[in-house]
Amino acid sequence: MFLPVILAGGSGTRLWPLSRKLYPKQFLAFGGELSMLQQSVRRLDGLQCAPPLLVCNEEHRFLAAEQMRLMGHEDVSILLEPEGRNTAPAIALAALHATSSGEDPVLFVMAADHHIHDQQAFQESVTMAAEQAGKDWLVTFGIVPDSPETGYGYIRRGENIQGQVYRAGRFVEKPDSDTAAAYLKAGDYYWNSGMFMFRAGRYLEELEKFEPAILECCRAAMQNARRDMHFVRVDKDAFNSCPGNSIDYAVMEKTQDAALVPMEAGWSDVGSWSSLWDLLPRDAEGNSCKGDVMAMDTSNSLLFSDYRMVATLGVQDLVVVETKDAVLVAHKNRAQDIKSLVDRIKSSG
Ligand code: GDD
Ligand code: MG
Repeated sequence: MFLPVILAGGSGTRLWPLSRKLYPKQFLAFGGELSMLQQSVRRLDGLQCAPPLLVCNEEHRFLAAEQMRLMGHEDVSILLEPEGRNTAPAIALAALHATSSGEDPVLFVMAADHHIHDQQAFQESVTMAAEQAGKDWLVTFGIVPDSPETGYGYIRRGENIQGQVYRAGRFVEKPDSDTAAAYLKAGDYYWNSGMFMFRAGRYLEELEKFEPAILECCRAAMQNARRDMHFVRVDKDAFNSCPGNSIDYAVMEKTQDAALVPMEAGWSDVGSWSSLWDLLPRDAEGNSCKGDVMAMDTSNSLLFSDYRMVATLGVQDLVVVETKDAVLVAHKNRAQDIKSLVDRIKSSG
């Protein structure tokens, strides 16, 4: 038995202009009926686990609650952050919440922006990881890489612990493309899936060792939290003074007790337009189109229209996303840089 913790507080900036501050990507359904958050919940069906615990931004509480209700989880606890401080504090809140009644459950930290093709293989890895987490390892899931992706973290496999479980060696967050290509060639590097499993208490111990300020702020934020139905509103002043950091940098890169469980489940992070293009059905020219689109002599492009017709001629490898108030036109291989573009739009007022 373990407790799934779903992190749904990211901003999904690289999928601008569809993913917006008020409606980030984890609440959107791309090419199906269920949103990415709901697909994460569905992925747990059949596993021996408690109802999930959600951590998200206060602004999205009704969206999150409604989407959970539609999945049959109307009374799950939803921890609300006044502002995002990245994944290390978000997981600390969940771990503090989970241990508040004196228990120390194994947490399964999941992102809300993943696509997984093979649910059975996914569940087999999770079951294997739960056993190791019960033995006090901090488990990360390593995806066998098939391209030199620069949007992921990489982990080197260390010595064998047992069966298919290894010590996690070096962590490298989002390397440049030459480094990523070298890792792919080396053969002993995995993508960091961004999913983790450990006992709540072990995570808090490691956080105290490496990032005591984060733990202190999260403790204060939970001590003064207000319950409002199934929402838990963490204390704003305490949480906003928390340093921001990801679990990868804050804990997983530093701990001596990281284990790696390989996962071969057709995993991808739907982080950018190019990864979405990879996943969605495409026509004979390699175009993935949605809405009112006319693509002539156009290939390997993602073309989405919401309000107006999109017509393209003689182009390739483009991303064109038309929405009511913004249109994006980008080269597909610059998809990772859309965050910088959005930052520039924001700072230009
Ligand atoms: N509650 C909460 N609060 N959730 C957050 C916050 C936050 O401040 N920041 C991010 N999240 C959630 C996102 O919604 C997403 O579900 C998950 O945490 C991961 O955050 P991303 O922002 O999507 O991270 P990433 O994709 O750039 O990188 C991470 O995941 C990759 C694989 O998907 C890293 O762990 C990489 O090493 C990894 O390869
Ligand atoms: Mg992500």
